[in-house]
Amino acid sequence: MAATDIAFREIFPGTGAYLQERALRNILLRQPLGLTLDAEVRDWEDGTRHFGLFDVAGDLLACVLASPLSDDSVRIRQMAVSPTRQSSGLGRRLMQEAEAELRRSGVKSLSLHARDTAIGFYEKLGYSRIGDIYLELGIPHQLMGKELAGSV
Ligand SMILES: CC(C)(COP(=O)(O)OP(=O)(O)OC[C@H]1O[C@@H](n2cnc3c(N)ncnc32)[C@H](O)[C@@H]1OP(=O)(O)O)[C@@H](O)C(=O)NCCC(=O)NCCS
Repeated sequence: MAATDIAFREIFPGTGAYLQERALRNILLRQPLGLTLDAEVRDWEDGTRHFGLFDVAGDLLACVLASPLSDDSVRIRQMAVSPTRQSSGLGRRLMQEAEAELRRSGVKSLSLHARDTAIGFYEKLGYSRIGDIYLELGIPHQLMGKELAGSV
């Protein structure tokens, strides 16, 4: 599938796209840990922005979330690419498009809690390690951050 056949869109709760997003997050990020998303949705999703990449049929290929930390900083969360579509540049494209949208909204600073298996991915996108590895949800994580250049 050509890159031009894949569209970046914001996802809004209550839509079919949001249900697809919940399913992808559950399958990739929570079921392997024996967890579900329900408590998290209640705890922190309010105010969070959701972004996705979709194919021409409207099927979700990848998602990422951004939760506000202050007026100009967000925490990137729940980055996930459909298992059959990983390692084909979609993760990079989604993060770049989401960062551009956040920058247009006045966001200057990004942080995230990277699983140790994904640290290299975020480093390729310009995120830096902050502090030491720690345990979250029972698996090693790394706090990482990035400043957005040219913020408006
Ligand atoms: C991690 C994940 C988001 C990466 O998305 P992806 O679409 O597979 O990555 P891309 O193909 O866009 O890769 C972009 C670059 O990062 C590198 N990369 C991708 N995944 C990597 C990883 N796990 N470790 C190190 N480097 C990685 C690629 O080699 C590529 O480098 P290149 O440009 O030099 O070729 C995806 O594999 C995924 O959803 N994994 C399961 C869920 C998960 O772990 N999410 C992160 C939670 S913190």
